[in-house]
Amino acid sequence: MKVIAFNGSPRKKWNTATLLEKALEGAASQGAETELIHLYELGFKGCISCFACKTKGGQSYGRCAVKDDLRPILEKVLQADAIILGSPIYFGTVSGEMRSFMERLLFPYRPYADARDPRQSLFPKKIQTGFIYTMNVTEKQMKASEFDQHPHHNEKVLKLIFGSSESLFSFDTYQFEDYSKVVADRYDVEHKTKRRRQVFPIDCQKAFEMGARFSKIN
Ligand SMILES: Cc1cc2nc3c(=O)[nH]c(=O)nc-3n(C[C@H](O)[C@H](O)[C@H](O)COP(=O)(O)O)c2cc1C
Repeated sequence: MKVIAFNGSPRKKWNTATLLEKALEGAASQGAETELIHLYELGFKGCISCFACKTKGGQSYGRCAVKDDLRPILEKVLQADAIILGSPIYFGTVSGEMRSFMERLLFPYRPYADARDPRQSLFPKKIQTGFIYTMNVTEKQMKASEFDQHPHHNEKVLKLIFGSSESLFSFDTYQFEDYSKVVADRYDVEHKTKRRRQVFPIDCQKAFEMGARFSKIN
């Protein structure tokens, strides 16, 4: 049983990374082998539209042919029983690195097959997938600005390709080490501090439970 988490934040110890670590602790509590991969440590780009993964009879059909730091990572996904993606929300969607990772992870397994074709995914097995999102806004603000459409779409695509998908949201996160040193008057530091103390631990617990659940199912 192997669970891999992917951190789409450049920060290795902050909100997203902490929640992913908790999810992996949950997986480990059920005996799973775990690994946390920081995407910002890797040298890679998004899909380059070479279509090697779509070429009939080609060596790389259904696989990403690009040779960079992501290649061995994509191989690892083939051995995983569950994957958990995590990203901060940047301008209403996931971070650039997470987006590039998703293009490379998902496109090769998504054939342009006829809609009636039962093989809508070339990924060779069914695995659990989770997506953890962290953001400054509240749940109400996310819905009002309609950027919940992105997570909703990601959930649909991950489900189509890997067989299952669930999302976890951590709202109104604590963003700065010291709010007094940055221009961030929009935010009430007392409120943020309180949330950090009272709500973030609940989000961590939910992440732990996600990891544990994924490891139990398999
Ligand atoms: C470039 C950038 C853009 C951001 N855009 C948004 C946004 O559109 N909506 C939002 O709610 N938070 C936004 N944030 C805040 C982060 O999503 C939030 O602080 C997140 O929890 C950071 O994750 P981390 O602590 O793992 O790095 C942005 C932060 C940065 C650095």
